[in-house]
Parts: sequence; structure tokens; C-alpha cells
Amino acid sequence: MLSFIRKRLAWKLTFGYLLVCSAVLIVVAPLIVRLLGITLLPPVGTGLAVILVLLAGLIFSLRVTRPLRRITDAARKFSGGDFDARVRPRGEDEVAELARAFNQMADQLNEKIRQVETGRNQIQGILEGMIEGVVVIGPSEELLLINSAAREILSIEHPVKPGSLLCEVTRAPEIQDLIRAVSETGRPQLKELTVYAPVERILRAQAAPYAAESGPGVLLVMHEITDIKRLEQLRREFVANVSHELKTPLAAIRGSVETLLDGALQDPAHNRTFVKAIAEESVRLDRLVDDLLTLAQIESRQELVRHEPILIQTFLDQELQRYLAVAQRAQVTLEWSVNPTSLSFLADRRQLAQAIGNLTDNAIKYNHPEGTVRVQAFRQGTEICFRVDDSGIGIPEVDLPRIFERFYRVDKDRSRETGGTGLGLAIVKHVAESHGGSVQVISRPGSGSCFILRFPSAS
Ligand SMILES: Nc1ncnc2c1ncn2[C@@H]1O[C@H](COP(=O)(O)OP(=O)(O)OP(=O)(O)O)[C@@H](O)[C@H]1O
Ligand SMILES: [Mg+2]
Repeated sequence: MLSFIRKRLAWKLTFGYLLVCSAVLIVVAPLIVRLLGITLLPPVGTGLAVILVLLAGLIFSLRVTRPLRRITDAARKFSGGDFDARVRPRGEDEVAELARAFNQMADQLNEKIRQVETGRNQIQGILEGMIEGVVVIGPSEELLLINSAAREILSIEHPVKPGSLLCEVTRAPEIQDLIRAVSETGRPQLKELTVYAPVERILRAQAAPYAAESGPGVLLVMHEITDIKRLEQLRREFVANVSHELKTPLAAIRGSVETLLDGALQDPAHNRTFVKAIAEESVRLDRLVDDLLTLAQIESRQELVRHEPILIQTFLDQELQRYLAVAQRAQVTLEWSVNPTSLSFLADRRQLAQAIGNLTDNAIKYNHPEGTVRVQAFRQGTEICFRVDDSGIGIPEVDLPRIFERFYRVDKDRSRETGGTGLGLAIVKHVAESHGGSVQVISRPGSGSCFILRFPSAS
């Protein structure tokens, strides 16, 4: 536009100047020629005069249009994204004034663009920092915006091209139904739904109408609640399991007591059997309640980890002595070793004893007669490791990820026979974690099992 104006101005100036100069020449030239007494052929004089006038007109128009060209160039650079483009005003005439006005306008625009960019970056930063997945969908179900939490929730790994359709980047039919419901009703919708690809996730999704530039769109906010749902499920299972585990020994005690009261008390041949059953079941109840309390304390971190220096050789000698009689009864050989014998670290003695005790108890319980149990302690890098190997029945692969859950037992009957409640390994895991360590299991049915407890040596 400026270039067009500049060209028109140049033509007008040149044309106007030519007119004025021609008029002056027509009047003044004959007078000058006569005054100077120069005799020139009339056509030559006129030609010379015309050339002079043209040259003067050109120089004059260039002087006026050059600053305009500079303004045009600066405006072009500015519109091309170079927001620092400015013009240096020369003199005090109208063109210099125009250059100053241009610079002022460029400064203001620059400031406005900076403010818009800062605002946009802030919104982008907030969206990217949110744990909720946010998706903005246009009128044709095209993606206008998707934050990284939404990409994570919907398992979208590749970058999303602007304008792609939601159904092209993820398969989530329930989400598409929700978006359609909002488009059709024009009302916000809240729904709990499940997406499957590639992992199952439970979401609380809220979709609301959104006025996009191109027409009515949908704003979708998703919150992953898989963990909350899993915890709810675990709590329900836990209550059911505890009730069941308490009911079984209580029912046995009640049955024995009723039988005794019904007359068995006077039967010297059988009364001891019932009293023995009551004693066994009450021991079982006692153990169950103890384990539950321990778990609850470790989980709620009421029981603080009291670190004290532990000389591992002495510790294992003391703790594993107690299991020698149990192992002997099960015809299992129990042995232990520490390398180097001077190995020591900081840990909660009571909790460590419980964890090593539970692992050793399992290794003896789920073993064969003539089997072996070997407990080893050693340093590996910056960790102190306790490794419990047995030659027992082993654990099927499908059960391995679940054995550390509360009340999980591979063979319920065998475990119950041995008085197991399925809490031993849950306690081991919590002890490891409360010390900043971990527990690992390697096992195969028929080939024995290996549990490794790792503690950071600085703990
Ligand atoms: N060394 C092992 N060999 C084979 N199976 C094992 C071994 N250790 C644990 N398991 C399996 O894992 C399950 C969970 O073990 P956990 O110690 O938590 O419970 P439990 O031994 O049944 O009962 P508790 O230890 O509470 O008395 C057991 O029921 C058993 O099926
Ligand atoms: Mg156990």
C-alpha cells in the first residue's frame, strides 16, 4: 500500500514540477537568451531546456520518495515478523513525521505482541503443568489443543498435527460419545469411563460446550482415577478378607465350645481334642490380629523406623536360631552366612527381624522334606542384600506379581493348613519400603524360590 502511495506521489510530484518549470522556462528562457545575447537555434535551446527540467524533476522526486521507500521497507519487514524494524527519521518535514508515527506504532504493536505472547506462554505452561488432561475440540471434532497430561492419559505418543481428528489419534469410543452428547445437547456432561489402549485407565471426564473461533466446540477435562478406584477395590477386598479370616477361627472355636457344652466336656476321650482345637484357633486369631496391627502401623507410618547399627552376623545368629526347631520338624535344613562377617548397617531391628523371619518361615513352610533353606547377607554396590533361597514348591508365574498383596495366597488350603493368613509378604514389602529398599522374587514351580531384600547401606 505504502509502495503504491509512494509511486503515485513520485509521479504527481514530477508531473507538477515539470508543469511549473515548463511555464517558467517558456516565460523566462527567451528573456535570458536575449539578455545574454546568446544565439542558439530554437529547437536546440528548447531541447536543452526540456532535458534540464526532466533531470531537476527526477532529482526532486527522488528526494521526497526515498524516505517513503524506507518506511515501506520497514513496514514490509514488520509484517514479515521482524518486530524490531524501525525507520530513522531525517529532518522535520511531513515524511519525517510519518516515520516517527510509524516507529511509535511499531513500538506499541511490539509491546502488545509481547503481552499476548507472555499470556499465551503462561496459559501453555499452566496447561502443560496440570495433572488433568485438557482437550479442546472444534466444531468438526478436530483437535484445537491437547496438553501433555491428556496425551499421557490417552497414550498418544507421537506429536499431534493441528486439525487432526480425535478419532485419528486415539481409540476411545466412550470419549467420542461424551463429546457428541455435549455437541447435541449443548450441556456439560460428567462421566466415569474406561479407556483401554494400550493400558486400562479409569477416567472421570467432564465435557462442556466451548465457543471456538470456527464455531461451537467442546472442552474436555479428564482426571485419571485408576489408582483411587483400585484402592477402593482393595479396601473393599480387605474388609471382606479380614471378616472372612476372623470368622473362620471364630466359627471353629464356637463349634468346639458348643460341642463341649453339649456334653463332650464330660467325655475324657475327646474333650482334650476340642480344647486343643480352641487353643490352636486362638493362636491363629492372635497372629492374625498381630499381623494386621503391624501392617497398619507400618502403613500409617505411626511406627517410626528406628535406625540402629546392626552387626548382621550376630543379628542372623539370634533371629534364625528360633527357626531351627521349626525347620527340623519340617525336615528342612536351614543355614545362613554373611559375607564379610563384619558386615553391618543401620536399620530398625524389630522390623528387619520380622521381614527376615517371614521370608524364612515361608521358605520352610513351602518346602519339601529333605529340602534346604539358605539365608545369605552381602553387600552389592551401595546396597545391603539379604537373599533367602529354598528348594521348595516354587510359585507359578501368574501369581508372582500378586504375592506381596495382603491376604494373597497361592494355595489357600496349604497356607491355611500351616496357619498362614497371607500377610507375611505384605509386611516384608512394607518393611523394605519404609527403609527406602525393595524386595524381589525369582521363582518357578518345582524349582524353589529366591527372595532378595535390598536396603540402601546408608539407611
Ligand atoms: N518360599 C515360598 N515358596 C513357595 N510359595 C511361597 C513362598 N513364599 C510365599 N509363597 C506363597 O505366597 C503366599 C503369600 O505368602 P505370605 O507369607 O504373605 O502368606 P502366608 O505364608 O500364606 O501367611 P502368613 O505369612 O501371613 O502366615 C503364600 O500363601 C504362598 O502361597
Ligand atoms: Mg508367610
